[in-house]
Amino acid sequence: MTDDALIAAAREAAGNSYSPYSNFAVGAALRFADGSVVTGSNIENASYGLALCAETVAVAKAMADGVRGGLEAVAVTGPGIDPITPCGRCRQVLHELAALGGTDPEILCVGPSEVRRTRLSTLLPDAFGPESL
Ligand code: THU
Repeated sequence: MTDDALIAAAREAAGNSYSPYSNFAVGAALRFADGSVVTGSNIENASYGLALCAETVAVAKAMADGVRGGLEAVAVTGPGIDPITPCGRCRQVLHELAALGGTDPEILCVGPSEVRRTRLSTLLPDAFGPESL
């Protein structure tokens, strides 16, 4: 899948966001070494602090299906005017899955007119992970 298609998958996932409290619909799409793609969207709760971010939902979906590692790229889309970057907790959650396969995935932070490309290791330097225990 091309990067453009990965971004399109993240945008489509954002359409399933359950975000009535923030009205901030986020989509995430994970691409794996075998070509598979797993998506997620943010899922909020009347108990506001229990909101689940799109990236975390996508990682949980993948891992619940048995995926361990192979994470090559992540696209994240949001409704803001700037490219959206994964929150701190999501960086850590992404690191766990990436570390299992020893990859440093590219992160595509998508805005309305710009895609900011970075690496997970740049967003989360000196990460604590399974290798740290
Ligand atoms: N959100 C995400 O889904 N991913 C992020 O990386 C940042 C924030 C969600 C959480 C909440 O539902 C909404 O965006 C506003 O913070």
